[in-house]
Amino acid sequence: MNHHLHNWLLGIGVGLALLMGSAFAEEQPSTERLKEGWTVFNRTCTVCHWPGVGGAPRIGDKNAWKDRIDSGRTVLYRHAINGWTGASGKRMPARGGNWNLTDDQVRAAVDYIIHNSR
Ligand code: HEC
Repeated sequence: MNHHLHNWLLGIGVGLALLMGSAFAEEQPSTERLKEGWTVFNRTCTVCHWPGVGGAPRIGDKNAWKDRIDSGRTVLYRHAINGWTGASGKRMPARGGNWNLTDDQVRAAVDYIIHNSR
C-alpha cells in the first residue's frame, strides 16, 4: 500500500476511535449520578413513567424512547425542566410537577431514564 495513503487511513482510524470513545463516555453517567437519578425518578417521575400513565413513555420501553433519545440529551433535559407537549398532545409537566427539584436533579432523572431505556 502507498505509504501516504496508509498513514492517512491510520489517522482516520485513530480519529474515529477517539470520537467513539468520547461518545461512549458521554453516554455513561457515573454510578453516583444514576443513584441520584434513581432517587429523583422514584420520588417524582415513576407515577407516570412506570405504568405509562396519560401517554407517558414507560421507562425501559426502548421503542417508546428511541426517537426521543435520538433527539439528544439536551432536548430531553429542556423538555423535562420546562415542560413540553408532544405531537400526540400529551403533556409532560415541568419538573414532573415537583417544583422542589433543581434543574440538575431533573437532569439526573433524565439520565437515569435514558440509561434504562436504550
Ligand atoms: C403527570 C405525569 C408525568 C410525570 C409526573 C412526569 N412525566 Fe415525563 N412525560 C409525561 C408525558 C405524558 C410525556 C409524553 C409527552 C408526549 O410525548 O407528548 C412525558 C415525556 C417525558 C420525556 C420525553 C420528552 C421528549 O422530548 O420526548 C422526558 C425526558 C420526561 N418525560 C422526563 C420526566 C422526568 C425526569 C420526570 C420526573 C422529574 C417526569 N418526566 C415526570 C408525563 C409525566
